[in-house]
Amino acid sequence: MKKKKTIPDILKMKQSGQRITVLTAYDYPFARLVDDGGVDIILVGDSAGVVVAGHDTTLPVTMEEMLYHVRAVKRAAPKALVVADMPFMSYQTGIEEACRNCGRMIKEGGAEAVKVEGGSNMAHVIRAVSSIDIPVMAHIGLTPQSVHRMGGYKVQGRNDQAERIMDDALAVQNSGAFAVVLEGIPASLAAEISVELTIPTIGIGAGPSCDGQVLVIHDILGLCEKYSPKFVKRYADLGPVISAAVTQYVAEVRNGEFPTEEHSFS
Ligand code: KIV
Repeated sequence: MKKKKTIPDILKMKQSGQRITVLTAYDYPFARLVDDGGVDIILVGDSAGVVVAGHDTTLPVTMEEMLYHVRAVKRAAPKALVVADMPFMSYQTGIEEACRNCGRMIKEGGAEAVKVEGGSNMAHVIRAVSSIDIPVMAHIGLTPQSVHRMGGYKVQGRNDQAERIMDDALAVQNSGAFAVVLEGIPASLAAEISVELTIPTIGIGAGPSCDGQVLVIHDILGLCEKYSPKFVKRYADLGPVISAAVTQYVAEVRNGEFPTEEHSFS
């Protein structure tokens, strides 16, 4: 059996030019399939709030909800590194609360690392959490928890904003982050950041030059009809497959075709 991916393994992948594969998962059956599929990192994203719970944004997601998802994923992930996304207001209010909540993801959830959104403004949090040996993945550029400041899910770092994103990237690296998600920024800027940093960059809507790539599992399987960003590639269209199965089940129960003796006990 392949051994469990560790933080040093992920760092070595950047050094040796091996691309890092990341997908989200939120529950046991999906995590099992994703882990079996060979991804390096499973991100238990707070995107759960949108694709699983049906909210319009990730903002309502709570610590208890994330812990539930992280525990389920952890049980199904013997090989991939499990990273727990920190929900809105679980780490922004101060380093003591941030350390306690990040610690809960490791201690109670079983995650091997956490992810926080923010650049220079969150450097103090990343430094404090990393200093108690909780590995931190940072997340800069289009940060969905900042939806109201950004005025929507808009590409960040164009033109004169580019310098600010580069400063954020350097700030999270200098604070001890082991990797950084670059979301919704121009491909050329993501390429520059990936060359400049010694820690791996994981792109989503950030072009082909990052050290790795992350997508939301529901997006690649065609299970999220609410939105379809340009950066998503759909690898399967499971929505119609599931709908057809449900429609057939309903019809068969209604017309007496199911269950039969084959599905009954004597
Ligand atoms: O919540 C999430 O799934 C994420 C990734 C899309 C990067 O933050």
